[in-house]
Amino acid sequence: MKGKLMSGIIVVTAMCSCTGNQAEADFGKVIPLPERMEMTGEGEFTLGRGVPVVFDGDDPDMARNAGFLKDYLKSDIGLEPVLRPDGRGDNAIVLEQDTLMAEEEYRITVGEDGIVIAGGSPKGVFYGIQTLRKSVPAQEGKSRGVIFPFGEVSAAPRFAYRGMHSDVVRHWFPVSYMKKYIDLMAFHGMNTLHWHLSDDQGWRIEIKRYPELTEKGSYRDGTMVGRDTSVFDGVPVSGYFTQDEIREVVKYAADRYITVIPEIDVPGHMMAALHCYPQLGCTGGPYEVSKIWGVMPDILCAGNEEAFDFLEGVFNEICSMFPSEYIHIGGDEAPRVRWEACPKCQARIRAEGLEDDAESSAEAKLQSYFMTRVEDFLRSKGRSVIGWDEILEGGVSQSATIMSWRGVDGGLEAARRGHDVIMTPCQYMYFDYYQTDDFENEPMAMTGYVPLEKVYGFEPMLPEMTPEERSHILGVQANLWAEYISTPEHAFYMALPRMAALSEVQWLQPEQKDWGSFEERLQTFVKFYDRDGYSYHPLAESAGLD
Ligand code: ACM
Ligand code: ZN
Repeated sequence: MKGKLMSGIIVVTAMCSCTGNQAEADFGKVIPLPERMEMTGEGEFTLGRGVPVVFDGDDPDMARNAGFLKDYLKSDIGLEPVLRPDGRGDNAIVLEQDTLMAEEEYRITVGEDGIVIAGGSPKGVFYGIQTLRKSVPAQEGKSRGVIFPFGEVSAAPRFAYRGMHSDVVRHWFPVSYMKKYIDLMAFHGMNTLHWHLSDDQGWRIEIKRYPELTEKGSYRDGTMVGRDTSVFDGVPVSGYFTQDEIREVVKYAADRYITVIPEIDVPGHMMAALHCYPQLGCTGGPYEVSKIWGVMPDILCAGNEEAFDFLEGVFNEICSMFPSEYIHIGGDEAPRVRWEACPKCQARIRAEGLEDDAESSAEAKLQSYFMTRVEDFLRSKGRSVIGWDEILEGGVSQSATIMSWRGVDGGLEAARRGHDVIMTPCQYMYFDYYQTDDFENEPMAMTGYVPLEKVYGFEPMLPEMTPEERSHILGVQANLWAEYISTPEHAFYMALPRMAALSEVQWLQPEQKDWGSFEERLQTFVKFYDRDGYSYHPLAESAGLD
């Protein structure tokens, strides 16, 4: 027996001997680490080939959970569980809900009669199932059974919002990739996918009222070679999701307790839309779907009513595809140079009485007017909006949630002003940045350096935040922009193993985080990535700060 002190609770890991090709479960190796672990140190339960999975068959969510558990035990370990929707079975894995627990909390109890996975809701049970499967080492391969030491482990996530972002604009990725990405998120206990679907370099979601968005706007005839050059590769990039495909992805995610939040970025990052409908820009165009990266001066015209009609048409269909409470409306990197010179925008500024003051220009206030109109429309449809931290500049209604990306200051300011906040600061949470400082020997990435340890060390609650301000921090997300990422293999290489570090930021209380323990657990954890065919960054180089 060996013991270790964790959060004031004695954690005892039974030293089971390995018999034949039976695997040994170890909850102490899981990422994210369960919050509480109390192993009795005596006794063990062996999960055998035909283990019954007992659940309430009248509850479709629990039935789906049972199906997932069966699939995992079969594909991960080679067992052949038997589903028992009648709620009966001995030496079983029992799935049950416990109304005294928090919604996302889980508890796994191993004893003589088998294993009970309890959750505050089917979602909590699902996280218990994920922890159970991650407690069985991947390298054991197909085994005759798994030995679980008697005891109890339980956890509840620190943050309600645990996100990953996916950019399918700069490069196109199909439904099959989105499903693998969602599987990975579920495996890491995440619950929100922020899906970036439109930008200067392409429009990637079918909108039936504006068919040209995908007929013309999803295509560009090349991409800048390297960084900041005027050389183009001439290789077309195209692709978009039909509405049926979007619904398929949203359902696939929902089945795994992941909410998909779509982003249609306005008023900037709109070159693909402007290419199709040039009358929506201040100059009238013509505009090209961008082949370069960066910030474009041409954005939607805030003085043109047709631009608002267009957005209402787009967001109407977005709402029909995405049931999420939140819709992301962007708001980042929108230069106001065209608005300064545009008679329509200036007329709007006068009509709305917007004036420069010490804090904001009239054009910054015009952006606030713009975002508020979009927000009002979405609110009339029962939705709330998220915007990047720039939307604070001209003032924005307090009901908007702020995504702090240029650092943590936007998040702090937003919380001070009473906004809810999602922390995704580029210095810690941009997974398109390099993972090592050996830039020469890495595939080209966005110029920034976010090693694994830095991700792990991120603390979204700033020391200067009051309890009231802290209550506005909904959670943490990492972003995977795809300017320099054109294949699924490369995307997973950039995301992993940083998603593992992020999952502990999202789940663990700060006093439970321990870089040394994480690094050690990661050595075995990455074997899951190998097993499931995910590429990832080699650990030796990725660990450690300068
Ligand atoms: C962003 O990275 N422009 C939000
Ligand atoms: Zn204009």
